[in-house]
Amino acid sequence: MSAFLKACRAEPTSHTPIWLMRQAGRYQPEYRAIRAKVSFVELCKRPDLATEVTLLPVSQLGVDAAILFADILLILEPLGIGFEFTKGDGPHIDKPLRTRADIDAVSSEIHASESLGYVMQTVKQVRAGLPKEVPLIGFAGAPFTLASYAIEGGGSRDYKETKQLMYSDEGLWNALMTKLTSAVIDYLNAQVKAGADALQVFDSWIGCLSPSDYGRYVAPHMKRLFSALDKSVPHIHFGTGTATLLAQQMAAGGDVIGLDWRVELGPTWQALGAKAVQGNLDPYSLLAPREELKRRASDVLASANGRPGHIFNLGHGIFPEASVDQVRALVDHVHEASQR
Ligand code: CP3
Repeated sequence: MSAFLKACRAEPTSHTPIWLMRQAGRYQPEYRAIRAKVSFVELCKRPDLATEVTLLPVSQLGVDAAILFADILLILEPLGIGFEFTKGDGPHIDKPLRTRADIDAVSSEIHASESLGYVMQTVKQVRAGLPKEVPLIGFAGAPFTLASYAIEGGGSRDYKETKQLMYSDEGLWNALMTKLTSAVIDYLNAQVKAGADALQVFDSWIGCLSPSDYGRYVAPHMKRLFSALDKSVPHIHFGTGTATLLAQQMAAGGDVIGLDWRVELGPTWQALGAKAVQGNLDPYSLLAPREELKRRASDVLASANGRPGHIFNLGHGIFPEASVDQVRALVDHVHEASQR
């Protein structure tokens, strides 16, 4: 079994496995060349190109796992929530959800294997093109993070509209979360059927909530989600700004809990009593001089102290200004410095 899958099960490995969120993206010249010809959504919808982009970091960087090239927002289309990616501006929802009528109109079933068949096709093609020993991570956005895009209409700093809906009409909030949760379960299980070896649930923006609001408005849906996921593969539960939410996230589900750089990996792991953790280098460490980057990566490894169940990653995704050389140096360093 690969080091990545062993680490997901907290089993000892010969080195600390590493993969990086957004390991496929604009920091790579090869990615930019493909994007010069097709839009981002078109790239996601073309299994041949999405496969090429998924495989690139595996050969270019030597990471221990591939992550499906897609986006958390693709699921909005079969839910009946139209969106586009505008240049430089990020995602834009055509008609943000604000009223009961808007939420009633969201589909309650998406039939992911057909409506998102292009993603399943990519999973199959990637699996066929990937060395046998390299696992493929499938993923989806978590219901809260998806709801925040659908309600705000795009990215947000304060999640004002989301909280207004949540705090004003709990029944309506739960109706939306129930639909999103069902869709995410269907989508993730379809990815496993198509060949994904692990799943990551991105609750990227959950850190805007208080612990009590997480418990009341989100945790029940996350519990249903994780309990309905295909258990033949490990599940990674990821968020950012989650220092005060980690114990509740862990209780909601997942085999591996994602940590961002705002927490100290070792003590947090210990205090949580987590089996396995993923993280947690500050992505902007990639902008430091090479020796400082390595030192910072070594600090993360030292914090994990060789304990089985650590998957090395950044605390959040690689950014477009990162250099491929620095990213490769990080992967090499983690492999070398963690040899056991
Ligand atoms: O390599 C990988 O990690 C796999 C591919 C992947 C993408 N998006 C590709 C992408 C994954 C796992 C995602 C998840 C995703 N998408 C998240 C959760 C992870 C996180 O960052 O917290 C979120 C919040 C989104 C939504 C999203 N997609 C935004 C806000 C944006 C615009 C911001 C930006 O970086 O431009 C995207 C676009 C996007 N998704 C790009 C990529 C490579 C850039 C698109 C381009 O080529 O122009």
